[in-house]
Amino acid sequence: MLIDSFGREHRDLRVSLTDRCQLRCTYCMPEEGLQWAKDVLSADETARVVRVAVREGIREVRLTGGEPLLRRDLLDVVAQIDVPDLSLTTNGMGLARLARDLRSAGLQRVNVSVDTLRPDRFRTLTRRDGLAAVLDGVTAAKEAGLLPVKVNTVLMRGVNDDEVLDLVAWARAEDVELRFIEHMPLGPDGAWSREDIVTADEVLAVLRSAYEVTPVGQRESAPAELWRLDGHGPAVGVIASVTQPFCGDCDRLRLTADGHLRACLFSRDEDDLRPLLRSDASDDELAAKLHAVVASKGAGHGIGLPGFVPPPRTMSEIGG
Ligand code: 5AD
Ligand code: SF4
Repeated sequence: MLIDSFGREHRDLRVSLTDRCQLRCTYCMPEEGLQWAKDVLSADETARVVRVAVREGIREVRLTGGEPLLRRDLLDVVAQIDVPDLSLTTNGMGLARLARDLRSAGLQRVNVSVDTLRPDRFRTLTRRDGLAAVLDGVTAAKEAGLLPVKVNTVLMRGVNDDEVLDLVAWARAEDVELRFIEHMPLGPDGAWSREDIVTADEVLAVLRSAYEVTPVGQRESAPAELWRLDGHGPAVGVIASVTQPFCGDCDRLRLTADGHLRACLFSRDEDDLRPLLRSDASDDELAAKLHAVVASKGAGHGIGLPGFVPPPRTMSEIGG
């Protein structure tokens, strides 16, 4: 098992399949000037890392990016992964076209990012058009049985923080689980300020203004605190990544598209697996590397602490 020096057992691997995306969300990517990864892992290399990780105790794999649906060999990657819980995080743009094939290849569920329901705002936020395609994607995912469909929303003050109740009403009508994620300092320079985070407490206050809000179960290692509204309908999650960090329960490891293993979103160092993958190293040697990265994991992200320095890579490069 992949146990770190704080006793946390690692069961969840986030695998970024590409750092590219057809959108340019302001909190994630600069308008231009991002250097794309040069030497991305092949489908077979990715599948091999996952296989070894599963052998060592990983039980859940989430495919991410960038935008994972842009990978031409995505169905091949999905088909090669054998794990109890296989999901994918997407901006939804390509889902209407791919949802059925993904389900047939063995994908179980998807998380779709929806930060706004207003087409003009979508254009401001992502610097592209496409809200209709995203909403069609959510419908297609449900029809294909990629369930439960979860929807991620990052709220930003003065940008989309007036849409909490609209998004909730939409999610209830669509029967999807909406999760509000606190904005983390991972984007391009200047895109984040602590004052502009719409905190989990603020979101809950808005929910309480319109619904009777009751907790659903225990959070355990899942980052989302789940709430039931008026006693029925899909749960609403609130992920307090910054104001109430859940690092103490973290069971996640990350593999970047260019083959670097990271113990944390906010790690300042990472380990390149490519030399091992492209030599005649054995699976045991790869496994030893996984254990070494887990052993090096720090206690937490320390966003609030003096001396915190964000990682030199954006979310699109690291994988969400
Ligand atoms: N803070 C919080 N969430 C983010 N995401 C991307 N960048 C950030 C950030 N800086 C979200 C995306 C997507 C998921 C992978 O992570 O909106 O839903
Ligand atoms: Fe693309 Fe996701 Fe980054 Fe938006 S947050 S630019 S959809 S990778």
